[in-house]
Amino acid sequence: MSDVEADKQSSAPTRYAVIGSPISHSKSPLIHALFAAQTQQAITYEAIEVLEDDFERFVGSWFASGGGGLNVTVPHKERAFAFAEITTPRATLARAVNTLSLDSAGRLVGDNTDGAGLLNDLIENYDTPIGGKRLLLLGAGGATRGVLAAIADLPNKPASITVANRTLSRAQGLASDFEGRLEIIAVSYDDLQQHEYDVVINGTSASLGGELPPLVPSLLAPDCCCYDMMYSAEPTLFLRWAKEHGAAKAIDGLGMLIGQAAVAFSLWRGVEPKTAEVILALRPKA
Ligand code: ATR
Repeated sequence: MSDVEADKQSSAPTRYAVIGSPISHSKSPLIHALFAAQTQQAITYEAIEVLEDDFERFVGSWFASGGGGLNVTVPHKERAFAFAEITTPRATLARAVNTLSLDSAGRLVGDNTDGAGLLNDLIENYDTPIGGKRLLLLGAGGATRGVLAAIADLPNKPASITVANRTLSRAQGLASDFEGRLEIIAVSYDDLQQHEYDVVINGTSASLGGELPPLVPSLLAPDCCCYDMMYSAEPTLFLRWAKEHGAAKAIDGLGMLIGQAAVAFSLWRGVEPKTAEVILALRPKA
């Protein structure tokens, strides 16, 4: 039975939540409350602190007690991937799960909506489809893997996909994992001197430590769009670098955060919320 059918048989709203540790900073409850108001869905959505070793017990009891669905964030995404009974193709490629639900047979299904959230943001909110573009991804961790998994689903692929990483072997490993699905050129930052790119996505965690990968300005094509998967109230180092060196667009990860939530919401509720008005509501006023 779908969540929506279950609602018709019960007067109580279906419960959803995001779980992680730490979680108190999460904007997901606000985002889902705005989606629910916009689409007139009777749901609750809360942020719950779940410690690493308590993950499987919590998820089991959540669904056993009638919970509708869970979003999963740091540090549980890989554990959720291992725990799900079924994973969607994009979650399988990403090797990480950020959305859990039960299918009609009661099996735990893991999906990954992060990459789709980013691509939707680029396309719908910034009119920047990546089809036919020269794409550069910085970093070869889970964040980059999630974006590549969503790109594998696109009918119109980029002209080229380059992954640059501090540890070259990790970028090479990622390229071989996607073999047969995407052609990925794995390079180190030193190899970026001779090429230029139309879209550059930062999937490194460097800015968390106040750092920036060593980038040469010549990699920015004249109309280049730079996107940071990180979001913070102040522009990240990467976005400051992009603006200083003349990138046409410098976009932070707020739209991706809201976009991944929108894809999860529509998986659970069968209605697609509009993200633009939610982005406006969450964007700090200048
Ligand atoms: P996530 O799941 O968020 O992607 P991760 O798997 O730990 O996290 O990956 C973090 C990425 O940021 C990696 O690509 C890492 O590079 P290495 O594989 O060489 O470690 C990259 N990263 C972190 N700090 C960095 C820094 N100061 N400069 C460049 N890259 C950095």
